Amino acid sequence: MYFKYLALASLVILYCLMFIGGYLESSGQGLACPEWPLCPSGFLPSAAYLTEWTHRLIAAMTGVMIIATAVASWKVVGSHKNLRITGTLAAVFAASQIVLGAIVINTQLKATIVAIHNGIGILLFAMTLLTAIYAFKLPRGATIKASVGSVE
Ligand code: HEM
Repeated sequence: MYFKYLALASLVILYCLMFIGGYLESSGQGLACPEWPLCPSGFLPSAAYLTEWTHRLIAAMTGVMIIATAVASWKVVGSHKNLRITGTLAAVFAASQIVLGAIVINTQLKATIVAIHNGIGILLFAMTLLTAIYAFKLPRGATIKASVGSVE
């Protein structure tokens, strides 16, 4: 398994998520799905809240990928303190964003909470970007055991 590609994929999916979040807000669809964690149609999408459903689905995928990147950042050969710090902080911010997403809905888009949701999103992006940069700077061919395979 290639650590640097996992880190890069996390960055790309996060960028897409933030893009969709911006669209969600500016198009006024933030409360199209008023329930948490699932929308009224459950796991299935609905035309009535497709943007919000997509934001949540991609948020879940992004969370899993960023946490996987954080775990791998501790295992990869050549891992260093900065890589572990940014990878772990990204995971912490990603988890906070999921919780904040619920609060955004439950407070009916309270301006302060939406601003915090946006602010932590920026910090999350910064940590994920740094993690990807560090990942690409790791020595070529560096691999390590992981229970599921080797990490480069
Ligand atoms: C890693 C996870 C997440 C990230 C990085 C993220 C990021 C963002 C960003 C950047 C915005 C635009 C905010 C703005 O322009 O001020 C946004 C909006 C929004 N997010 Fe998220 N989000 C995440 C997870 C979630 C989750 C799980 C929910 C659950 C419901 C959620 C609900 C919302 C809502 C409702 C808005 C629109 C707010 C409004 O209309 O004022 N987000 N998100």
